Amino acid sequence: MENKRGLFIVIEGVDGSGKTTQANLLAEYLRSKGRTIHHTAEPTATGLGGMVRDGLGGEHPRTREELAAMFAADRVQHNVSPKNGIIKYLSEGTDVVCDRYYYSSLAYQGVDGAIEWVANMNLGCPVITKPDICIFLDMDPEKCHEHIRAGRTHFEIYEENAAMIAETRRRYGIVFEMLKDRENIAIIDSTGTIEEVFEQIKTEIDKLL
Ligand code: TYD
Repeated sequence: MENKRGLFIVIEGVDGSGKTTQANLLAEYLRSKGRTIHHTAEPTATGLGGMVRDGLGGEHPRTREELAAMFAADRVQHNVSPKNGIIKYLSEGTDVVCDRYYYSSLAYQGVDGAIEWVANMNLGCPVITKPDICIFLDMDPEKCHEHIRAGRTHFEIYEENAAMIAETRRRYGIVFEMLKDRENIAIIDSTGTIEEVFEQIKTEIDKLL
């Protein structure tokens, strides 16, 4: 029986850039092609992911280094879990669509000289699978902030204002420049309608099918 490895697709973007909407459309599109999809996200919904969220929500304030290590531990578990891990799904031929991955760690925690450490911890880890493609939804920070305001009642530490979002976007730029020779990264201009943005994503994904 043929058992082709599934595709591993990561959707990245600053808060409010529409990752979940586009990831849902992508999952639907891949299913329409007869493929089996596992849609997942980081931080995960496991105990470790919950600890990370507590750290982000300000309930248990954490240093940036603690957060980087916790996100990495959550990511290891996300990969190796025998029940619902990324490695398991890919080996069964299921495509994995993941909202956020190590690019987020590099952009959010890889600051003040920490980027090499965060990169090594993630890209150098033998069980943290490298995605087939990272799709970055690039959107105007003011627009992202409007989306967040419209959809949320509380703010996490990284999404307080448009200036902070603009800074995160700048850091993603540094990350993608650093990784461009060893990773497949597609930067998608996300200023258009949901459908227009998805058309661009589809073009990138069709190249891999
Ligand atoms: P989440 O609440 O899932 O928001 P969104 O729907 O925008 O993805 O994301 C939680 C926050 O976690 C988000 O502000 C980015 C941050 N984050 C990191 O700082 N490092 C990481 O490695 C990951 C995966 C997320």
